Amino acid sequence: MTATTTPRRYNITTFGCQMNKADSERMAGILDAMGYEAEDDPNLADVVVYNTCTIRDNAEQKVYSYLGRQAKRKQKSADVTLIVAGCVAQQEGEKLLRRVPELDLVMGPQHANRLGDLLEQVWEGNQVVATEPIHIMEDITKPRRDSSISAWVNVIYGCNERCSYCVVPNVRGTEQSRTPEAIREEMENLGQQGYKEVTLLGQNIDAYGRDLPGSTPEGRNKYNLTNLLYYVHDVPGIERIRFATSHPRYFTERLIRACAELPKVCEHFHIPFQSGDNDILKAMARGYTHEKYRRIVDKIRYYIPDAAISADAIVGFPGETEEQFQNTLQLVEDIEFDQLNTAAYSPRPATPAANWENQLSEEVKSDRLQRLNHLVSTKAAARSQRYLHRTEQVLVEGQNPKDSSQVMGRTRTNRLTFFAGDIEQLQGKQVPVTITEARAFSLTGEMV
Ligand code: SAH
Ligand code: SF4
Ligand code: F3S
Repeated sequence: MTATTTPRRYNITTFGCQMNKADSERMAGILDAMGYEAEDDPNLADVVVYNTCTIRDNAEQKVYSYLGRQAKRKQKSADVTLIVAGCVAQQEGEKLLRRVPELDLVMGPQHANRLGDLLEQVWEGNQVVATEPIHIMEDITKPRRDSSISAWVNVIYGCNERCSYCVVPNVRGTEQSRTPEAIREEMENLGQQGYKEVTLLGQNIDAYGRDLPGSTPEGRNKYNLTNLLYYVHDVPGIERIRFATSHPRYFTERLIRACAELPKVCEHFHIPFQSGDNDILKAMARGYTHEKYRRIVDKIRYYIPDAAISADAIVGFPGETEEQFQNTLQLVEDIEFDQLNTAAYSPRPATPAANWENQLSEEVKSDRLQRLNHLVSTKAAARSQRYLHRTEQVLVEGQNPKDSSQVMGRTRTNRLTFFAGDIEQLQGKQVPVTITEARAFSLTGEMV
């Protein structure tokens, strides 16, 4: 490493999902341990990292405009180390170096924990590309976490599904589950440091454990999400446990019963359905029907009547007819989601659906997206009304950025809630709050 008198500064800009956010926190932890200082403005940093997302074309394109600006800056002051990490790095690999020759390091998501080694190679004068599939090493560095109350804990990396529209299996690799012991140890450390809430993370978290060897005497795999929840549930200090994202294929009744039984597991489930039409679901290779999806929701509401349910959906998948789109609207109408992330289908490199000839026009896709979004906000606003006058336990995370007399936190069902209070006294506490105002995606209340 080059010797310098002033501490060198780094900036990490993160795009994409919680998996990327968790990776960024681990990369920041590595840079902290190397003696670097965090810098909010990428234009003042000596090490600039873009942790990228390629789930849709617009996410990918955003990265190139940022990179263009940094490349210019680097042409002027050579002492900037420019890094592309994450899913675009994995997808493009070497090609990124040709497109942006100023880059020093291109590193896929599986290499996040190796940032230190990779930087050493850069300082030896190499331009480095790290995109080969590897076994993700157990973490020895402490992540630098954004929140001091709520933390992410990776449980399973990668994805073994092959949904016909999706780049994730290409860029995140095959599933790798961490051992229950490693997960519990990380949670125990978090509990000791004063964290109150843990969100267990995986692309398909309910597929957890199937790659780990070991079965019960009855021949069932003993490593699964339900058993993991029982195993980590009593970690001292941790008051709330969440998990995301769930795949309908692996969401069992036993898992729902465990969530109902275990008091720390919060009443919120994120289970993407993608489409309400069985032929589209088949073309997407999702492996379930809308009837199966509805049965899962019914089961959740049977055991946990007030549970919040959120999901992801795609409109304008190749060949989707107006009638098939209506089936998605119908599902949203019937289920009354608390929240739904919607997107227009975007063809992605090296995915089957991108090569099909029955692509829909941008006009049709954006028209359907608007109609779906309209329905979602009407439904969510109506569903939110059930909170009015109720008293909810809110875990206080921080100050309301728009009003410093208020603090904000989340209900167990993951609703963002604001109320008057002093952050110094309340941060990290669970407070009973009576809800006085209910908007589609957030609440306002008064401390009891
Ligand atoms: N593993 C999760 C989702 C991961 S990707 C699951 O299977 O449900 C996050 C979301 O991005 C997906 O749920 C999907 O709705 C959306 N998405 C993925 N690929 C897409 C594409 N090509 N076009 C539009 N949306 C897409
Ligand atoms: Fe993508 Fe499907 Fe894997 Fe989810 S399950 S990450 S949508 S391939
Ligand atoms: Fe994006 Fe990669 Fe996540 S493509 S959504 S950052 S897994």
